Amino acid sequence: MRTLILTTLLALTHTATAQEPNYDEARVPAFDLPDPLVRQDGTRVVDAAGWPARRAELLALFEQHVYGRLPDHDLALDVEVVDTDDTALGGRATRRQLVVRLGSGERAVAIELLVYAPNDRDGPAATFLGLNFKGNHTVHADPAIRIPTSWLADDAGFGVEDHRASDAGRGRRARRWPVEHIVERGYAFATAYYGDIDPDFDDGFRNGVHALVDEQRDGASWGSIGAWAFGLSRLLDALATLPEVDAARVAVVGHSRLGKTALWAGATDPRFALVISNDSGCGGAALSRRRYGETVAAITRRFPHWFCARYASYAGAEDALPVDQHELIAAIAPRPVYVASAEQDRWADPRGEFLAARAAEPVYALFGLPGLGTDALPEPGTASTAGRIGYHLRSGTHDLTHEDWEHFLEFADRHLRARPSDRR
Ligand code: GCU
Repeated sequence: MRTLILTTLLALTHTATAQEPNYDEARVPAFDLPDPLVRQDGTRVVDAAGWPARRAELLALFEQHVYGRLPDHDLALDVEVVDTDDTALGGRATRRQLVVRLGSGERAVAIELLVYAPNDRDGPAATFLGLNFKGNHTVHADPAIRIPTSWLADDAGFGVEDHRASDAGRGRRARRWPVEHIVERGYAFATAYYGDIDPDFDDGFRNGVHALVDEQRDGASWGSIGAWAFGLSRLLDALATLPEVDAARVAVVGHSRLGKTALWAGATDPRFALVISNDSGCGGAALSRRRYGETVAAITRRFPHWFCARYASYAGAEDALPVDQHELIAAIAPRPVYVASAEQDRWADPRGEFLAARAAEPVYALFGLPGLGTDALPEPGTASTAGRIGYHLRSGTHDLTHEDWEHFLEFADRHLRARPSDRR
């Protein structure tokens, strides 16, 4: 008995130590990053013409080992405009609310899409599309925004009780979404609640869009990040039906787990013209091999449903992963991509996010395009937006702030030419 207790205690102590996140650069292990330009057969991509096939190979590896396979796109899609108001935001915007139905019958999934487009525009607008965590009604105080009817995690601060949203949450997340400012800068803004696509809890993949696809699940079946990314592509389908949106100039943006999702959506769907990940960390922009802050072990223990089942087998064995996250960024090339970090968000490994962005540069170079334009981690508060890969390190903690948006807008101005005066 005593031996058993002792062994158990030892095991517990050991686990506690093993779970302690590393925040010490000196303890980051030496590692070799897989070269994004080297194909699985060992040969090297030497020009832009060789990139599409290598990109397809990388996407297949991310499907097989990290996020799981995406389903075929042949689900029924029905787009219903349920609200149009061209006097929104004090007359500056046209608000639309759409119900985007995926699949048919009992299991059909209804995603509420909220769109504000600037009234002052001379054609369809470049658009930011981002999923939100708490419901569309939380992004702005506009009383006309519909409240989600789907499952939400309980949160008294946002008026969510018994997994139902309420009016008490209206505008509560407005500080993360400077809608007026985005519209003033000439962009449309579109958002949907991520739980409409797939509720964020582990239910064995029986609800949300997973339920629409009949499949024998295996180690490479899709998880929730795959589901949210798939949903983003369907929302882009829906946006393409609106005359005020220029579907060829849509930036997909996301924070945290939704930053991971934005990268995966942007990598897999080349229709996204710009991809922005904010504080996305492990399984997002941060290099897994650094094992700094959140690790594969930590993320798959707490959030196994975000990934394919096989991903968990790389816990503590990151060097065996056939890809690392710089190749997710590279899979977006030659389209512009932006990675944002926050200085105190050590859990997301800001340096690892920066290094991943840098390690994607050789792929942009294939196209003769500048990458980050800097080898050193920028000072907090400064942004590197001149190249095709943008990056900034904000002071402060894990969050999505107006400062982040200022940099995103600046980068979008360069690459999406939103302002009518800038338009060719
Ligand atoms: C947790 C998780 C992160 C994730 C974050 C979020 O902190 O460990 O990987 O990015 O939640 O999505 O808020």
